[in-house]
Amino acid sequence: MMGEFVFNLEACARPNIVALQPYRCARDDYKDDGSNTLLDANENSYGPSLSTDISVDHENNGDTLRLAGLNRYPDPHQIELKQLLCDLRQSAGSQATLKPENLFVGVGSDEAIDGLIRCFCIPGVDKILVCPPTYGMYTVAAQVNDVEVVKVPLEVEGESASFDIQPAKIQQMIGGDPRIKLVYVCSPGNPTGKLVDPARLKALLEYSWNGVVILDEAYIDFAGHDKSLAHWVNDYPNLVVMQTLSKAFGMAGIRLGFAFAPSGIARLLNNLKAPYNVSSLTSALAIQAVSKAGLAVMRSHRELIVSQRERLVQELSKIPRVGRFLGGYDANFLLVEMLDGPKSLGGQPDNRTAKVVYSQLAEAKGIVVRYRGNELGCTGCLRITVGTEHETTKLLQKLEEVFQETP
Ligand SMILES: Cc1ncc(COP(=O)(O)O)c(C=O)c1O
Repeated sequence: MMGEFVFNLEACARPNIVALQPYRCARDDYKDDGSNTLLDANENSYGPSLSTDISVDHENNGDTLRLAGLNRYPDPHQIELKQLLCDLRQSAGSQATLKPENLFVGVGSDEAIDGLIRCFCIPGVDKILVCPPTYGMYTVAAQVNDVEVVKVPLEVEGESASFDIQPAKIQQMIGGDPRIKLVYVCSPGNPTGKLVDPARLKALLEYSWNGVVILDEAYIDFAGHDKSLAHWVNDYPNLVVMQTLSKAFGMAGIRLGFAFAPSGIARLLNNLKAPYNVSSLTSALAIQAVSKAGLAVMRSHRELIVSQRERLVQELSKIPRVGRFLGGYDANFLLVEMLDGPKSLGGQPDNRTAKVVYSQLAEAKGIVVRYRGNELGCTGCLRITVGTEHETTKLLQKLEEVFQETP
């Protein structure tokens, strides 16, 4: 990394957040180790009002699913879960060790997306930068916080459009506007399904500015083995890497997202969050998912998804009115063009066709995909999630039917 680096956390984060004294509870002083009578938090000592008692611990393959104690507030710090997440993303090639103090855990990555804006952006004054086409929540969270959004598109122009970030253009923009505090980069991108080239990200990170680069790796486990750059938070003072259990781990329902960050940034995020943001049920299930047995399940499901993704690419390509796949093949979805005529006759990507296919698939065939034709560089595109073998078979069959019925 460069010697002269202007990033200064105290000067970059909002002064009220830097000065914030986090909420403390009695259990920060006296741990809940089972030996104390707990009369500090106005809980109900008689237990949860559940007619079916799910709140008992379960043994499973040597791991314990800890569901007891639902009448108690959850652990605000989640050190056990954080350590498992560090072990998961510790890279063999990295000198520095990821530690629980490098982590924020929250209610999906959506909480981290919002928390970072609240941490760094003064409402009505500061800005974030996004690279469209990209995940819509960055802009929604900015708008909720009255924070302006500046855009530097992915490289979407021309036949050889890479759908990758353009570091020189981003640098130009952040260099010219000190009110830009955060740059959100999605890798693999949504809706592009494309892993950002690490060399481009490096070029962006080696640029000296007083702001933070946020790398959203929600889909990283579909991109291949050990592709996460989470360990880079030890190399760059202004990098945050977000991940989630909602995708490869198949646990969107528990709402568990996390962000790796240099410890100073992680501390601010942890100071600003609500103390009990992660429920006991969520953390118990998350711990199972990232323990040895859970990881084995995730990996086997991922193999199945990757093989269906390959099948979908092959089979969709044979359909005359399906065009190019845009972006990449690094996530659990494909971004694919619908054409106004057969490709052999020069059919072109077409939003009208994509909308008809989208609504016919849903209304007549019971299959819901995502219309993305209005996103920058995505004319005529649908984003299709890779499902099970059976779902893929059904999708391919119904898509052919829709094309037969669509003029
Ligand atoms: C790129 C990206 N980031 C984050 C999320 C949200 O993840 P979570 O469920 O953890 O809030 C999504 C969900 O679709 C996503 O596509």
